[in-house]
Amino acid sequence: MVDMNELDSLVTSARESFARCATPAELENAKAQFLGKSGRLTELMKGMAQLSPEDKKTRGAAINLAKQGVEAALTARRQALADAELERQLQAEALDVTLPGRARGQGGLHPVSLTLERIEQIFGSMGFDVADGPEIETDWFNFTALNTPEDHPARSMHDTFYVEGGTPEAPHLLRTHTSPMQVRYAVQHVKRHRHLIDAGQPMPEIRVIAPGRTYRVDSDATHSPMFHQCEGLWIGENVSFKDLKVVFTDFCRTFFESDDLVLRFRPSFFPFTEPSAEIDIQFQQGPLAGRWLEVSGAGQVHPNVVRNMGLDPERFIGFAFGMGPDRLTMLRYGVNDLRLFFDGDIRFLSQFQ
Ligand code: FA5
Ligand code: MG
Repeated sequence: MVDMNELDSLVTSARESFARCATPAELENAKAQFLGKSGRLTELMKGMAQLSPEDKKTRGAAINLAKQGVEAALTARRQALADAELERQLQAEALDVTLPGRARGQGGLHPVSLTLERIEQIFGSMGFDVADGPEIETDWFNFTALNTPEDHPARSMHDTFYVEGGTPEAPHLLRTHTSPMQVRYAVQHVKRHRHLIDAGQPMPEIRVIAPGRTYRVDSDATHSPMFHQCEGLWIGENVSFKDLKVVFTDFCRTFFESDDLVLRFRPSFFPFTEPSAEIDIQFQQGPLAGRWLEVSGAGQVHPNVVRNMGLDPERFIGFAFGMGPDRLTMLRYGVNDLRLFFDGDIRFLSQFQ
């Protein structure tokens, strides 16, 4: 007859077997042992063939009950394994919302870049074009075209960084000022308007600034081996030294947002201007308040330079200046050592944002 204990222990042994399974794959294997084609329950079903109809009924019902028990145990174990897997994933991807946040660094422009932007904007509003030129220059554009004699001290190795690439007669160097842009720009301008000039008609005036990096063998609180300059050039048939004073003073008053800013034009010498001046501005704030700082060289463009531009110095005249944006930045913020701008110390630089 039917051994009901046999079926109970089968369900128990299925539950235990499922409980030992640690993965869904193991569980599927264990399932096959009970419910598969040759599983233990299936075998019991097959064994019913010889029973009387009466016995078949009771035995069949009992086996079905056992089968439901095994299936229930299987479903429960499946769910338990799925829950455990989900729990494991949640642990692995856990997020501690109590940790302090990580701030996103906010970049900003370098104080000298801010000055350069301001220079371009102010001169742009006065109708000046902005030009860009090479930092590696030829001896011709940096010196010779600017009327600088062979034996001028600026041409010595003590003052100028020479680089490989040129010839002994035409050496290459890191430009020592932005003044080579005077001739470079003017030559292009003249080429574009040659037909007008030759016909004796008015040529559109040359009015340009050329900001950029420059290099000298120099280092102290107001000199850095790499520094910036911004050249300015205005050439026409009627441009005078007085215009230089007006334009430069206007620029500085706008730049420093001060209508009563005082400039000092100090007589000086440059081979490429005659007469020449250097322009000083007084510190209004910071540790150097009251001290004068030279910010620019300037002057009326020398006739020899006008000739190298391809123009007749009897007809064309004008002024040029070469100012130091790094020095303007020192004055604007009251910084007493220009080299601080190029040390790359974020604690210093972040103060200008
Ligand atoms: C010149 O370089 C001339 N080319 C300026 C010029 C242009 C004169 C056009 C006439 C006509 P100077 O050596 O003085 O001149 O330099 C001009 C400015 O550049 C200085 O006033 C200063 O503001 C800046 N400067 C020069 N050397 C350094 C340096 N090593 N570090 C930082 N700024 C400098
Ligand atoms: Mg000077």
